[in-house]
Amino acid sequence: MSERADLQGRHIVLGLSGGIACYKSAELVRLLTQAGATVQVIMTEAAEAFITSVTFQALSGRPVYTSQWDSRPDNNMAHIQLGREADVILVAPASADFMARLVQGRADELLSLTCLARPRDRCALLLAPAMNREMWSHPATQRNAQQLRDDGTILLGPAAGQQACGEVGDGRMLEPAELLDELVAHFQVKHLAGQRVLITAGPTFEAIDPVRGITNLSSGKMGFAIARAAHEAGAQVTLVAGPVHLPTPRGVRRLDVRSARDMHDTVLPLAAEHDVFIATAAVADWRPAALSEHKIKKEGKKVAPTFELTENPDILATVAALPQAPYCVGFAAESEQLLAHARAKLVRKGVPLIVGNLGPATFGRDDNALLLVDADTERALPADGSSADKLTLARELMRDLATRLARQGRVRAGHAAPGEPTDPPIH
Ligand code: CTP
Repeated sequence: MSERADLQGRHIVLGLSGGIACYKSAELVRLLTQAGATVQVIMTEAAEAFITSVTFQALSGRPVYTSQWDSRPDNNMAHIQLGREADVILVAPASADFMARLVQGRADELLSLTCLARPRDRCALLLAPAMNREMWSHPATQRNAQQLRDDGTILLGPAAGQQACGEVGDGRMLEPAELLDELVAHFQVKHLAGQRVLITAGPTFEAIDPVRGITNLSSGKMGFAIARAAHEAGAQVTLVAGPVHLPTPRGVRRLDVRSARDMHDTVLPLAAEHDVFIATAAVADWRPAALSEHKIKKEGKKVAPTFELTENPDILATVAALPQAPYCVGFAAESEQLLAHARAKLVRKGVPLIVGNLGPATFGRDDNALLLVDADTERALPADGSSADKLTLARELMRDLATRLARQGRVRAGHAAPGEPTDPPIH
């Protein structure tokens, strides 16, 4: 995602406390700088036992700070200076001992001192715990983790899995790419805070026999980008995905389905407990009327078989017709006359918003161009009619959606008024 420079202009203090996961933080610095951030590394004495500051100076392009007595800052107060400059402090790895020190408000070494002295109103503290599973699950650590949350600290992970000590369980530090995603999400405006968003994505697969079926070229990328953008904007997201091989965006609940009927049966009971439904899936309109139990053999057949098709349920139209329908957004993948088809779908599906795109030009690609069509207006994204990557478009769409929800009085508690603070414009 570095080509989008999601962290452009952000200054991140990356703190390392003692733990074998320090080696992963070297990769994290690379990812952060590639995403446009400047990174100032602070290491504790214990971190220096695992990896040297030389690595981090080389990767961040800045001298590493290790001591509160470092006299380089003009005011000779490294702990104040470093915190003032930071947009966020991320401690990765955060050891059990370091967490305990934070809970107590200790200030006898530079990293905990900087965390304590930071301007809390504008510089969040994020921790990526990393430790042996027994240490993580110990009541003392759990107590400390809860206290830190209560104090406003954001804990990222830990993840479960194989540990350096040979044991398997909770306590692994999140991977560098996951921490990057978390930081990028941290800086997104929470336009959709409190909203529950249900999304369908990908193609469906309509079986003919146990090995064959009818499907389409939808990659699911647009729907997955929307799921990520909705989560980043503060929404609780459920993603119902057809057969695609895409990683689940962090923080998103994913339910995998295969056929249009599976998708319908999964979506319908969930619709009422969501505020917004975004149907990006390329649902097959028809399925074979009969499913052959065994593979249809060529052997012995003189003429090619033909298949009778029957219509699939229209998931979007069904949800839109529910008595307590969520705010419904449809997608229209067309090959021509985008605006006319999108307008017709708006009426046919009974939804307030259709997002049109040219299917053959976008399926499987990372870029797209959208046309947002409601009863009265249409709006191109990007505005100049060019194309943009799908996550950038998805973020812009979520911003537009938040404005529409606010206009309809569908704002939920915790919602940040759309338009403030502002996102950077997309070009
Ligand atoms: N959709 C749906 N269930 C279906 C068919 C479509 O939920 N059985 C949704 C899609 O997810 C999309 C919108 O309806 O949000 C429009 O889908 P599209 O395939 O473009 O429209 P169709 O109704 O199939 O119209 P046509 O094939 O004539 O373009």
